[in-house]
Amino acid sequence: MVPTIAWAAESAEELLKDLGNRRAHVQGVAKRAIEISRVVPPDDRPYLVAAAYLHDIGYAAVLRRTGLHQLDGAAHLRQLGRERLARLVAHHSEARFEVEVRGAGHLLADYEPDEQSVRDALTYCDMTTSSTGTRTTLTSRLVEIEARYGESSEPAARQILVALERSLPHLKKAVESTERRIHALLASGSREPMR
Ligand SMILES: [Fe+2]
Repeated sequence: MVPTIAWAAESAEELLKDLGNRRAHVQGVAKRAIEISRVVPPDDRPYLVAAAYLHDIGYAAVLRRTGLHQLDGAAHLRQLGRERLARLVAHHSEARFEVEVRGAGHLLADYEPDEQSVRDALTYCDMTTSSTGTRTTLTSRLVEIEARYGESSEPAARQILVALERSLPHLKKAVESTERRIHALLASGSREPMR
């Protein structure tokens, strides 16, 4: 079942409506995904954009099960029969590192990773959009995340920082490979706008 963008946008809006900045961030990530969707093959584009809208729904209190937003969001989508979106959300932005540090690697193993180019593009959109939804760079985004969790004394915050450090080379690789695809499209002189 190919997801419609309107369905994904409405679902995210409903689930994240009370989560302030998280909602703004998600809207920014989705906007970026729409802008760069041509970096993935046509059939994959609706999945990239829908996953961008839905990647953080696991933060919604109503979906909270494991406390890992990637897995909680994925479980909800799987329950709705949206299997490919579930897999994209489960693995978004190198989730495996955080999931492993939190001792839930066996739960993530239930979700097969999607095509590398689609996963990279989703990571690119998430990592180049700030917590308030504005465009940013990977470096600034990492500084922002480190500052946010660095202030917390929660054990989970410490684990997130450890995972972030481990995932860094992979995040960089995903962002750089997507940037290369964007530049190749621009250089090819395609008449469709790449904003
Ligand atoms: Fe995100």
